[in-house]
Amino acid sequence: MTAKPIYGRVRTGLLFIDPHNDFLSEGGKLRPRVATNSQPDMGQPHKEALMYSKNSPQRRPTSAKLRRLFAISVSSLALLPMSTASAQTGASPVVYEFGRPARADEHTYDWYRRTHAEAASARYGIPADVIGDGMDTWHWWVGVDNPGFWRESTKATSKSPGNLLGVKVDFLRLLLTVPRNKRFELIGLINDPDTVAADKPDRYGLMLDRMKEGTLTWDADTFGYSSGIIGLQLFANKQFDPQKWSLAKYLEDPASVEPPYNVGMTCALCHVSFNPARPPASVHEPKWGNIVSNIGNQYFREGNLFGSEMPHDSFIYQYLTIQ
Ligand code: HEC
Repeated sequence: MTAKPIYGRVRTGLLFIDPHNDFLSEGGKLRPRVATNSQPDMGQPHKEALMYSKNSPQRRPTSAKLRRLFAISVSSLALLPMSTASAQTGASPVVYEFGRPARADEHTYDWYRRTHAEAASARYGIPADVIGDGMDTWHWWVGVDNPGFWRESTKATSKSPGNLLGVKVDFLRLLLTVPRNKRFELIGLINDPDTVAADKPDRYGLMLDRMKEGTLTWDADTFGYSSGIIGLQLFANKQFDPQKWSLAKYLEDPASVEPPYNVGMTCALCHVSFNPARPPASVHEPKWGNIVSNIGNQYFREGNLFGSEMPHDSFIYQYLTIQ
């Protein structure tokens, strides 16, 4: 190739991705270089558009958040005689049920996070806790109202014209209908070692994997609960009304009733994979030591996220399954 590519300033944008928030976030090493023109300016397309990742979301509630929570609980106590505390705080009515406790001999994400953050810190001289925050972002953070986006997509594809091709965008259905020991085989999804299959339905009749008790070390409001699949997180749905809930109704038409959980997608969903040098003894039950998070998942058939229930002789299924 001898031709020189020409990137005219008028029609060229530059997008920087800083997946671990190490360089471009406030306080990052390269922040001063992008800080002056870091806001994309749609009105002036001739300017370079630079976008950078936001600060890592807080892993645990900040003191400001705790103060807010404290203020809310005090005010709700004062209002208790008039109504329930939950109505005052806007708290979700959803109750999460954990699985069996994590055993002492089982590595958890906390171990994985610590081990990798310390190794990377020793190699690159960046503080381990900052790397750990980036790891949380990568594994568990879904962005701003991503679960809401997927909920809307579920509703839009529940009936025509949205489901014209038979494609269903419904991760909750996927979690309920594709069993833990089929996910890798059918879709290439990687199960979260911090979760176990449900042994009985929860109070909403859902057979969703449960996080092992003791493995939730982050703020579930921000990061959600693990769905059992690395990269899909469950968030308590604020619109959920236990009085109106019916699983049968949901499965018939997911737009007809608000489910207890919405599902969000994190970067790790497509980027997590097995460590080729230390593959798991069972592909359904990997341990954290078998996992690497940013190698890219070469087994992943993302099309099947949306068409696992289609007849296999349909053209659309065949199209999706080879994606
Ligand atoms: C739905 C699947 C999916 C999700 C979710 C996803 N990625 Fe990716 N990502 C891919 C695929 C596929 C590629 C490879 C694209 C290619 O090579 O053409 C890729 C490539 C990348 C690359 C380039 C890697 C390289 O070696 O050049 C970066 C960086 C990246 N992704 C960051 C992210 C970040 C950050 C997130 C979360 C905000 C994310 N990805 C979420 C599927 C995904």
